[in-house]
Amino acid sequence: MEKRDFVYEGKAKKVWTTSDPNLYVVEYKNSLTAFNALKKDTVEGKGRLNNLISASLFRYLSGMGVPTHFVELLDDLHQVVKKVAIVPIEVVVRNITTGTLCKRLGVEEGKTLPRPLVELYLKDDELGDPIITEDHALLFGWSTQEQLLRIKEITLKVNSLLSEYFLRLGIILVDFKLEFGIDSSGNLLLADEISPDTCRFWDRDTRNRLDKDRFRKDLGDVLGAYQEIWKRISSSGEKQ
Ligand code: TMP
Ligand code: ASP
Repeated sequence: MEKRDFVYEGKAKKVWTTSDPNLYVVEYKNSLTAFNALKKDTVEGKGRLNNLISASLFRYLSGMGVPTHFVELLDDLHQVVKKVAIVPIEVVVRNITTGTLCKRLGVEEGKTLPRPLVELYLKDDELGDPIITEDHALLFGWSTQEQLLRIKEITLKVNSLLSEYFLRLGIILVDFKLEFGIDSSGNLLLADEISPDTCRFWDRDTRNRLDKDRFRKDLGDVLGAYQEIWKRISSSGEKQ
């Protein structure tokens, strides 16, 4: 599978068409952004790690019955995915309070929630991805009721599968963001990426941050954290 025409460049990935009209090639970039790209940097090696981590997690989830866009890993920087129309909603799941949840609502940091909290954000960089309710999504046509129900069902399944998976690797899945898309047959698929750019991972024993918060908060050794996540995934025997 080879790249043909350039389609799109986002903050962390580039997308290309292929010889198959239903498939795209995604290239993972070394660029890191935070706070809606107000803060930017390039970290050599980050693209490779996110590509490998995301591919492994999508393969794991697909094997557990979650419908995903992932097709195959091509090389260190590229993977093949199904072409989808992205639903313009970012779905955030939180197991422990931190980040914008604490800033927005003034709730205490680091508290385990009694059940996962699911939040919806409008995927719109110009507006800074504002938080929305289900009613906003329905009334403005960003998704249908049926899609929202399915999105929540898949999201909670992914949360329980990945929380258990990472706990076996000594990592707490604090929160993460998912995106969904519709393929050419109308199927709703989990899309985008799942990586330390889009998840918060805390070491279970030390509570060390092993994700993009190292970049957001200038904690140092961003690449080392991503390498640690990949090391634990690749040596776990759970990689499929
Ligand atoms: P937040 O606490 O900054 O809202 O982030 C919640 C989770 O969503 C966290 O794991 C990081 C992830 N996330 C993204 O992947 N992309 C984004 O644009 C934002 C704001 C958060
Ligand atoms: N992904 C967003 C950005 O690039 C925000 C974040 O992850 O903090 O700016």
